Amino acid sequence: MARRFKLRPLPNDIDDTKESLKMIDRREFMRLSFNTAAGLITMASIGSVGFASLLMGQPEADGGDTAVRFWVPSGAEDTAWFGDRHLEPMSYSAFQTAAANTKTGMIGAQGVWSGLPVNVVYVPHEENKDSPLVPNKPRFQYLEGYDLGGKYVGSGREVEDDSTYSTLSIHDNMIIIFSRCPHLCCIPGWQLVTNNYTGDNWASGGTDSGGDKLFCICHSSRFDPTAIEKNSMGRGVPFDFIGVRRTGGPAPNGMPLIPFVVNGDIIEALPDFKDWYAYCG
Ligand code: FES
Repeated sequence: MARRFKLRPLPNDIDDTKESLKMIDRREFMRLSFNTAAGLITMASIGSVGFASLLMGQPEADGGDTAVRFWVPSGAEDTAWFGDRHLEPMSYSAFQTAAANTKTGMIGAQGVWSGLPVNVVYVPHEENKDSPLVPNKPRFQYLEGYDLGGKYVGSGREVEDDSTYSTLSIHDNMIIIFSRCPHLCCIPGWQLVTNNYTGDNWASGGTDSGGDKLFCICHSSRFDPTAIEKNSMGRGVPFDFIGVRRTGGPAPNGMPLIPFVVNGDIIEALPDFKDWYAYCG
């Protein structure tokens, strides 16, 4: 029988009885992942669809064509985080409100932007950045990155120090991550399942310790959304990117960041580094 996973409820709805947690297995997850979001994620995987055309966005009446939208697996509306907001434009205030209900002050959500799967993660960086580096006081950390051969690539601090990456500089206690696993291109999720890696707790250092990881249920790769590093990847010709660190599992490296602005209260992504998001198709 296929291994099954629990969908996690929003923190203010948490009821730890098993009956309250929707169960899905890997096959269901893949079906849900690729058949929802109006088929947009499927499109992102089809090589015959021009990548540039995906990034042109879909004109909409609300949120503009650069808005990042919540994405909820079909059938998980009552159990997934932000489950009642499928395809609504993401608002900054929604994250601030939900973050107030977690122990760490971190919150995240699955999303879709211009046909691409994303994860948006809120971290109380400004509140914690000057406090001692202790458990459950999360903040963004800039780490050194090394390629698979052990060669030094650079530091995540370049988002602050190198004008090349200025649109990626950390702001608004938030990051957006392109959510295709560098292993075999599944879609890692924020708190989609319950295990030791997704618990509401945090440890420093960009390792597997602590929870609040992005987790890929296909083969259990983990990514720390607070560990910002520069790294290198790519089939054929490798390219350097700024992203979040892989902390465990078969994925060879982390996943790239997507720059964004908060326009009024709406989170809008920017296509500055679109070449980074083509490694899966
Ligand atoms: S596709 Fe993510 S771990 Fe294999």
